[in-house]
Amino acid sequence: MPCKAIAVANQKGGTGKTATTLSLGVALARRGRRVLLVDTDPQGDLTKSLGWADPDSIATTVATHIAAVIEGADEDPRAGILGHREGVDLMPANIELASLEMAVFMAMSRERILKTWAEPLRADYDYILFDCAPTLGIIPVNALVAADGVIIPVSAEYLPASGMAGLLKTVGRVRRQINPGLSVEGILVTLYDSRNNLARDVERAIREQYGAALRVFDTVVPRAVSAAESAAAGESVFSYDASGRAARAFADLAEEVDRRG
Ligand SMILES: Nc1ncnc2c1ncn2[C@@H]1O[C@H](COP(=O)(O)OP(=O)(O)OP(=O)(O)O)[C@@H](O)[C@H]1O
Ligand SMILES: [Mg+2]
Repeated sequence: MPCKAIAVANQKGGTGKTATTLSLGVALARRGRRVLLVDTDPQGDLTKSLGWADPDSIATTVATHIAAVIEGADEDPRAGILGHREGVDLMPANIELASLEMAVFMAMSRERILKTWAEPLRADYDYILFDCAPTLGIIPVNALVAADGVIIPVSAEYLPASGMAGLLKTVGRVRRQINPGLSVEGILVTLYDSRNNLARDVERAIREQYGAALRVFDTVVPRAVSAAESAAAGESVFSYDASGRAARAFADLAEEVDRRG
């Protein structure tokens, strides 16, 4: 199968982007897919969630590759890829990425830098998932340019904010101006607590507001203690609590994503 690159993005903080990148990635690997996860958040949350507790001590990160592309240096795009015991590969990130932002901004073809690095890696993977920071800045835009699709995790704990409009506008602009192949892979309702009336209202509102024009995944990710605890333990919900609700949800999500191919 041709490689599919997906950006997991929402400029709103704490909507489950990192958890979705990690757990969807592991779920796809469990389906036999070759998966590369790319941390593009200087916080390094994805890197930490996979067990690298001190991202700032990692020498080769996505920032190394971005710097190499900007300088036109000859760097092996595979350098620094870490293997995780659950079958996914990781390109980590750390705080160095934050100090590179201005250089990216000043660079030639500043929106295409991540794509230039990631393109040769498509030969090695079935899926490349980019975990984005909660901004609409130049690095997430780079992820949208490098991607074929975007998954938008939305928290069921807040009414769908106007932020969604901003994100969809950015996706539209990237599509028109740089990456015509970019599609909205789907909106994903996360942090869903079925005992909470608001959560049900939020899910309904999202399906009503966006369901006609965009795919809203059938799968809803429940708020589950195991999901928060597994990240702290440096592993996925699958090795932490394989029979739990969160693991089941991400297995279902992987099926939905994989079905479309
Ligand atoms: N299904 C879940 N159930 C319970 N807690 C969760 C779940 N998913 C994520 N969390 C917790 O909620 C918090 C936010 O999740 P996460 O870090 O994935 O969001 P994010 O969108 O990546 O945040 P940021 O915008 O800061 O990058 C984290 O503490 C995480 O452990
Ligand atoms: Mg995150």
